[in-house]
Amino acid sequence: MRVAVIYGGASAEREVSLVTGRAVAAALRERGHEACLVDTASKEPAGRESASDATARAIMGEDVARAEVVFVALHGGAGENGTVQGLLELAGKRYTGSGVFASALAMDKRMSKLAFRAAGVPTPEWRMVLSDDAAGSAAGSGSPVFPDDLSPGDERRAARELGGYPIIVKPNDQGSTVGLTLVEDEKALAGAFELAADHSSHVLFERYIPGRELTVAVLEGTRLPLVEAEPSTGLYDYECKYTKGMTEYTCPADVPGDIAEKMTDAGHRAFESLGCHGYGRVDFRLAPDGRFYCLEVNTVPGMTDVSLVPMAAAAAGVSFGELCERIAETALS
Ligand SMILES: Nc1ncnc2c1ncn2[C@@H]1O[C@H](COP(=O)(O)OP(=O)(O)O)[C@@H](O)[C@H]1O
Ligand SMILES: [Mg+2]
Repeated sequence: MRVAVIYGGASAEREVSLVTGRAVAAALRERGHEACLVDTASKEPAGRESASDATARAIMGEDVARAEVVFVALHGGAGENGTVQGLLELAGKRYTGSGVFASALAMDKRMSKLAFRAAGVPTPEWRMVLSDDAAGSAAGSGSPVFPDDLSPGDERRAARELGGYPIIVKPNDQGSTVGLTLVEDEKALAGAFELAADHSSHVLFERYIPGRELTVAVLEGTRLPLVEAEPSTGLYDYECKYTKGMTEYTCPADVPGDIAEKMTDAGHRAFESLGCHGYGRVDFRLAPDGRFYCLEVNTVPGMTDVSLVPMAAAAAGVSFGELCERIAETALS
């Protein structure tokens, strides 16, 4: 196969994407494929060109044009929210992972939660508080505004309606735990809201689910074992996610068989409820009472050597090289 791996980009997750892209390209080459790396933000923007123009130029360039498959290794931002996928559709290219609509839906945590609920997948109780931007213009990030969404100043009400503290406050459409706070009491509420509002016009308040961090890795055609992540600090934050040694991983996770089965089924249902394709990662919390809750679906999960999908695949006997190859092949199906 002739593959163009698009990676890098200008999102907050650029650094991780660089690692993912290089790992994928190297693995594909090792299996005899032709793989070139295309950093969508590598070139200095020409003149008054914006980051999005530079992305478009990279994607419409020679390397992508020549490729049979485009491997999307861009985390966060335009590469994961359907924008790049739309451009690839227009260019008539086959690409890995989810399509335009599923990507956009997965990036929007609240819309995802509505889909999970419709599919019978449990997800933590939530309230949405709009920031000034969204409340004023009813536009903000372009995420929907519903009549029962709360306005700035309603933060305490949101916490109360969730049954009190602790709660999680996070931007509706970011990744890598950016802008997220575990709020343990009212004193910390205003700061947490402001931080999340710096990243999004929509701020999601969720009931905090104590317990364990589990993930369902999805690879079309193979049922993969659960992975447990045990961060050395309380929250599974950016540092824990990307610093070797800061998190302990177990795969297959040590979870009672019936719960593991149900969670895996729920993970696949969540994936399907958004219309996702190819591969992905579905994050869960498992509470001490045995109930689990789906947090989100990642449509471009990390593919580094500390990443969870490769770990789950390895435990099922699928090497990193084979995994990359199979993901590339799903672009053709
Ligand atoms: N409702 C919640 N209860 C408990 N922990 C949560 C909750 N929401 C988020 N977290 C913690 O924060 C991490 C990141 O949250 P997540 O919703 O997956 O957003 P991101 O897109 O930033 O990964 C989770 O992996 C989990 O450790
Ligand atoms: Mg997550």
